[in-house]
Amino acid sequence: MKILAIETSCDETAIAIIEAQKVGAKTKFKILGNDLSSQIALHTQYGGVFPMMAKREHEKNIISILEKVLTEAKMFKKIKTPISDIKKQTKINKILDRENELKILWREIMPFIKKPNIDAIAVTTGPGLEPALWVGISFAKSLSTYWDIPIVPVNHMEGHIFSIFPKKGNTFTIDSNQKIFPMMSLLVSGGHTELIQIKDWMKYKKIGQTRDDAAGEAFDKVARMLGLPYPGGPEISKLAAIERFVEPFKSSSSHPYESIILPRPMIHSKDYDFSFSGLKTAVLYLIRDLRKINPDILEEKNIIKQKIAREFEDAAIEVLTAKTIKAIKEYEIKTLIVGGGVSANSYLQKIINEKIKENKLKTRVHFPSKKLTGDNALMIAIVGYFQYKNKKIAKNINAIKAQGNLSL
Ligand code: KG4
Ligand code: ZN
Repeated sequence: MKILAIETSCDETAIAIIEAQKVGAKTKFKILGNDLSSQIALHTQYGGVFPMMAKREHEKNIISILEKVLTEAKMFKKIKTPISDIKKQTKINKILDRENELKILWREIMPFIKKPNIDAIAVTTGPGLEPALWVGISFAKSLSTYWDIPIVPVNHMEGHIFSIFPKKGNTFTIDSNQKIFPMMSLLVSGGHTELIQIKDWMKYKKIGQTRDDAAGEAFDKVARMLGLPYPGGPEISKLAAIERFVEPFKSSSSHPYESIILPRPMIHSKDYDFSFSGLKTAVLYLIRDLRKINPDILEEKNIIKQKIAREFEDAAIEVLTAKTIKAIKEYEIKTLIVGGGVSANSYLQKIINEKIKENKLKTRVHFPSKKLTGDNALMIAIVGYFQYKNKKIAKNINAIKAQGNLSL
């Protein structure tokens, strides 16, 4: 069967088409088309993602991404004279009532695109920014109405868990008989920091989460304090890597800023919760104190930025790793999946692998391939397929709603 997936929960407008074929316990997947349009360049100018701006960008780009992906999947065919179906068009106009810009483009373009050979539409319904989510949902509803294809609502975080399966190339297999349970997932993104226990396929239990800021959010905010562009995670990570590299070559010094130490919030707490807001505030106070010594300290000395970035990354990753290792031991975890934007952090990958070895754990660790650490529609398509198989098709598409705080 073929699934078309739509993802617009934050700042990527993403669409993918996959083909899934079940042979015994194995499902073979073929990626027929997969593309996205990133809004990062726009949001960088404003230092972060503004929901209404993200919504507008999704509206502008979603049809052209669909055209690209249909073309890649060899499903793009134009119709010269579309058959007008007033009843359907009235329904679609109503569906797109709050996405006016998309509605205008829809009327211009969609009637000239031939119905592709798709069996189901998977769409992210949450968690995420509600105005952004609504664009994907409304678009999915409009296609479902127009082409008579069912919709499968998908949880974005479940998508991040399944993002580890596609590797290199256009095909991959998921074997439901694999002895991979009990499994644990550390989901770390701009909006979430969660530890999820997975006892069996699609059976989730959240055992811990952040009580305030998400890990990615803390990276972004600290980057901003250091005058680095959005998204801050990769920027902090680059500076921290330079600092780790040059440190052994430096002579010791007694400058006050040579000994920068930040807290590791909740590292020894008995639960599996996280907190990153205190760490972020500690950086704020540190910068304030350093500016008392020299008001231009950040501007003049790049080395200070490097030091702060490194200590911040060390602190954040120590906490994430400590809690994850503790959970692996307590729940006797066989497989660890790390997903979400922050899973691209190479230092996090290194330290988790090191700690697994150091603790003599047999747990197998999986990170997504670089292209799939961030938001994408391929992961939504995979979940969409399994949810379709679990008969999670929406009975009434009018009832599908954006759920900003949807939980696993
Ligand atoms: O999953 P994602 O693409 O979007 C959300 O659903 O939030 O995650 C984006 C987050 C941003 O906060 C970004 O700064 C962070 O992931 N990020 C990183 C790295 N690459 C992206 N954080 C730390 N190190 C990285 N290399
Ligand atoms: Zn995400």
